Order: sequence, then structure tokens, then C-alpha cells
Amino acid sequence: MMKRIITVLIVLNFCIPVNLPGQNLSVKSPSEDVLVEFFLNDKGQPGYKVYFKEKLIIDESYFGFDFRDAKPLKNNFSISRYGENSFSETWETILGEQRYVDNNYNELKIELIEGTVLQRRMEIVFKVYDDGLGFRFKFPEQENLNDVVILDENTEFNLTGDHITWWIPGDWDIYEHLYNTTTISAIDAISKRDHPSLAQTYIPYNAVNTPVTMKTENDIYLSFHEANLTNYSGMTLKVDTENYILTSELVGSVDDSKVKISTPFVTPWRTIQIAENAGDLIESNLIVNLNEPNKLKNTNWIKPMKYVGIWWEMHIGKSTWDMDSGRHGATTENAKYYIDFAASNSIDAVLVEGWNTGWERWFGFDDREGIFDFVTPYQDYDLFEVANYASKNDIEIIMHHETSSAPRTYEQQLDTAFTLCRELGINAVKTGYVQEIIPKGEYHHGQWMVNHYRKVLETAAEYKIMVNAHEPIKGTGIRRTYPNMIAREGLRGQEFNAWSEGGNPPEHLTIVPFTRMLAGPIDFTPGIFDIKLSDFKPDNQINTTLTHQLALYVVIYSPMQMAADLPENYIGQQAFQFIRDVGLNWEESRVLDGEIGDFVIIARKERATDNWFIGAVTDEHSRPISINLDFLNNDLSYTAKTYVDAEDAHWDNNPTVFDIYDKIVNKNDVINFQLKEGGGAAISIISNK
Ligand code: NOJ
Ligand code: CA
Repeated sequence: MMKRIITVLIVLNFCIPVNLPGQNLSVKSPSEDVLVEFFLNDKGQPGYKVYFKEKLIIDESYFGFDFRDAKPLKNNFSISRYGENSFSETWETILGEQRYVDNNYNELKIELIEGTVLQRRMEIVFKVYDDGLGFRFKFPEQENLNDVVILDENTEFNLTGDHITWWIPGDWDIYEHLYNTTTISAIDAISKRDHPSLAQTYIPYNAVNTPVTMKTENDIYLSFHEANLTNYSGMTLKVDTENYILTSELVGSVDDSKVKISTPFVTPWRTIQIAENAGDLIESNLIVNLNEPNKLKNTNWIKPMKYVGIWWEMHIGKSTWDMDSGRHGATTENAKYYIDFAASNSIDAVLVEGWNTGWERWFGFDDREGIFDFVTPYQDYDLFEVANYASKNDIEIIMHHETSSAPRTYEQQLDTAFTLCRELGINAVKTGYVQEIIPKGEYHHGQWMVNHYRKVLETAAEYKIMVNAHEPIKGTGIRRTYPNMIAREGLRGQEFNAWSEGGNPPEHLTIVPFTRMLAGPIDFTPGIFDIKLSDFKPDNQINTTLTHQLALYVVIYSPMQMAADLPENYIGQQAFQFIRDVGLNWEESRVLDGEIGDFVIIARKERATDNWFIGAVTDEHSRPISINLDFLNNDLSYTAKTYVDAEDAHWDNNPTVFDIYDKIVNKNDVINFQLKEGGGAAISIISNK
């Protein structure tokens, strides 16, 4: 395929030194659909409004910062200069939902100066795209603002109504909550504090985590998030349930500070994605576009991966991470069993959890420093033998580093740990951060940990290692800058079905694509075929049908996808062919239809082939689906294999019955079928060329 020319165009760049108190400045997106107005009110406080197709989307909202030992930055501002830019480029992803990303925006920069003796300066930059906007604050180096302790950033998003909202609580430690669907006025994050399934949780305010997605009375979809979270604290959004105003509430630290930083610095981008169809939120590239281009020079070691692993067996209690139990999962023999399965089933890699000593003391202990060293295997696990066996079979091993949230221990070990990976020929690591952070008072989503996660990512890149982080900081598009950030968890994943009361409800994965997935690739770990878990966990189950599990390989984007079930549950299963076939890295992705919390249908074209894959999932309701194949290539014919719920399928009563239909198709065809309750369909459309 011919490479598109990548253009960078800066149409205009000027700054006019001018003073415009009381006057509005505005900037429109390239299509002119999104309009942002910047203003100073009569107290000299900066604020903004947003319109979409001439309708007000964000009403008068204000900015301000509180500092330790310094006056708040809020009022008395005037504009010292402002300037506008237009920018247009197309950049190429290494791994992605699509190969080429258009990055077109208009920009408005406003330089503000305080009219007090302090004369402190702050800049606000808006980038306005057709799919939304981002804005951030820049603090130049200046005499009266040097080393800064931010006690709060008070950025407002003043909503125009009591929108329907898909939200999880503003937890400073974990994102593994079920999504709630309520109006703004009914958001009650505090009621989610009592959550027995979570090893770490801290919800201090009635706030939500981002991305948080909404639908307005006029059927406009909005999602609020942040981009390029670097050396700063994660932003939660405090909810004013009476006036429908969201205000940034940064994640805290051991003391009352939120961010410790020195000028010059910039904040992350505060983002608003805007769409007329729910699916357009998924197709939006706003978050990655607001990040810096790839910093890694050589990227030929960054590859997508399908993997199996010694993992689910621990979650369902068949084996354990530790050795004391007498049921240790990570033995040399068991690893070879998974490698053999991978090698004969088009799987690229095997994850081995519980391979290193320390698991006897990983959970439920306050002092977890120095427990894991990331280099010492248990006696029954021969690291080098497993690595050799894998390499002989052309299978990669995924290293596992559970830090048990003792990040200082991990940082001390990073070089040793990654050196071992290199010796073993290992190119990917799954990290984990279960429990409260040590030192006490730091939180997973605060600045201290944001910097830790970045350090791990940058160090991994030096060793040419890809990172799949569990219990991570949220994705904010950093994968563009560091494409070795291959995937992350950061949501209520499949594991909850193994051990939490009630598991994930059937609607879960009809919400996740419109919320969590806007933050980037997800290691959800789909593909459980033994839905009822009867041999190991008779009181738990997966609350979907089997073909819903298949559909997730397309619906949930990740260039690293697990076939999460035990190998023995795949052997002889016809449906496993879809997992063998499905692509991982995409030329193009299209959301064919969907409503948040009801259903979603996504089609993706594989890079380097003419093959398409489609996934459709529904909530607890059965519904007819019709897929028009008009996106297929004009000149090609294809074989479509549809894996779909059988007539009598149902997530609870009959989850594993499905039909497979083979059909020769071209772009004039329409495929119709019925999704059953909690069901799904997966279609591989393989070119007959
Ligand atoms: C939680 C992770 O999400 C899970 O995948 C992992 O198996 C355990 N922690 C142990 O590290
Ligand atoms: Ca987890």
C-alpha cells in the first residue's frame, strides 16, 4: 500500500501585543462546528465557553490555581498578548486503531498578566478540533513564581443541563469500578466507597474519574478527560449536583499538596470530546493528537502480540502464585504446556505470573518493600529452560512484575530486572500495582506515581521492552510518544468475573468502549469459553455468551490481546478459530453502530492484509443487528465466517451455544442476525485473493 504523504502546515502564527479587557477572543475548529470563546470577567478572572454547531455546550466556566505560601492565581488578569495558529498533519501510528491519523486544529494562545505588584504570568492554549478541544495552562519562568506547590487547580466545566452520565467514582487509587448510568444530579461517588472487591480504594469527594461520558438533552455526546499527563497529578472531576458544574480535583499526596513543580511548566491538556453519534467518540483521535510525536528512534521491536498465560488458573483458584499452597502454577512443566499450546495455535506469547519468589508475602502485608526482587525464580521454575524452550518454539515470554505497590523497591530493581529480560530474550513486561502505595499517603493517580509509571516506561524503552501496566495510571495518549506503552488495564477487567460477587454485568462492555476505551488500549483479557466456571468457581460465572467473548477481540482495542482461558478449554473448540484469525494492528477502524450501555458494532481492517474483522456486543437485551458491508474493497470477494449466538442462547441460561455461518460476500452484501441476551457476534471477513 502506498504511503500517504505526511504534511505539516502552519498557516499562520502571530502574536499581537494588545490589551483587550472585557473583550472576547474566539477560535473555531477547521470545520467551524466547534467554537471556543475566551473571556475575562469584570474581576479579571479568565474563563471560556464552548459551542457545537451554534449550540452552547459549556457555559461560562472559570480557571484558577491555589498555591501553598502564595496568593491564588485567579483575578486581576489582563491579556498581554494573544495569537492564533492553524495546524495540519497526518502522522503514522506504529500500533493503532488506524494507520494514519489526521491532526488538524486551530489554536488560540492567550498570555495573561496579573495586575498586582506580583505581575505573575500564565498562558492558556486552546487547540480546537472538529472532534472537540483541549486546553492547557503554561507557566513561564518568572520572578514571582518559581518553585510551586499547587494546592488545587480549579478548572470548571459548566454543563448546560442534567445530562445522562456514564461514570465511575473519582477514586485516587483504582479505576476498577463498575460504570454507573445516572444524571449529573444523581452522581453519588461517596456511596461507592464500600467496595469489598478492591484491594485499594480512596474516594475522598463526590467526584468522578475520567474519561467521563455524557449525553445531552439534544443528543450530543460529550466526554471529559485529559491528555499528556506528565509530571502532574491525575485529574478527577468534582461534581456540583445542583448547578451541573464539574471542577477539577487533582489527586493528592502525603501532605495537602497536589503538585510540586517549578516554572517553566505546562499542565496536561484538559479535553472535551464532542460527537453527534456515540460511535464518533470511539473514532476520535483527540487524545493522541494532543500528545507529542514518537520519541523512540528505533521501533522495530514494538510488535503486537496475542498471548495465553499462567494467569486465569490462579484467578479461578486452580493453582496459586505462591509455592506454599502446594499448587504452584508457574512450574517449568506448566509453562511448557502453555508454550506448546501457543505454538500450535497461532499465539505469539505466554505470560507467566507467580514465577518469582515473594508471593507468600505479597498481599495483605503492610511492609511489602524488598519482598519481590524480579530476578529470583521459585525452585520449580527454571527461567532459562523455559526461555529456551519458548524460543525454540518461536514463542515469546511475557515477564511479570507485580510490585505489590512498593514502587521504590521496583525502581531500585529496574535495571537488574530489565537486564534479565534482555538476557532471556524477553520483549514485554506486565506490571502490577495491587494494594495501597508505599509510602502511605501517596496514591496511584497522584504526581509521585505518575512520575514512577513514566520512569518505568522510559527505562523499559531503553531496554527495548514493551509495557502492559495493570493498576496503572489512566491512559492519556502517551502511547503516541512512547509506543512501547502497548496496553494497560485500568478498568474492571475479566478477573472480576472469577472472584467478585456478581462479576461484571452483561452491559459492562457496551459502556467501556465509550468511556475507558477513549483513554487507549485495554488489556481486558477476553476469551473465556468455560463461562460457568463450574469446576472451580461454581458461585461465579462470566455474564456474557461465548460469542460475546469472541466479539471483544474487535470491540476492545488492544495490540496485546490475551486468550485468557485455560488451554484445555480451547482444545477442540471451533470458536477458537476466530481467536487464531483475528488481527491485532489495524489499518482502519469503523464504529458501525452503537448506543452507550446498549450495544456496539465495530469493524476493523487488518494492516498488511485485506481482511476485516467485526465484533458486535449487546447488553442484557436481545436485539437484531444488520451490517452493511459497503466498506469492503470494490474489487474483492471475501469469505465471511460469522460466529453468533444460537437461537436459544442467553448469557445466564445457555451461554455457550452458537452457530457458525460461512458465506462468500462482497461490498453489496448485508449480514443480518440476532444478538441474544448478553450476547455477541464475531465475523472474520477474509479476502479470497
Ligand atoms: C491484578 C492484575 O490485574 C492481575 O492481572 C494479576 O494477575 C494480579 N494483580 C496479580 O499480579
Ligand atoms: Ca487489576
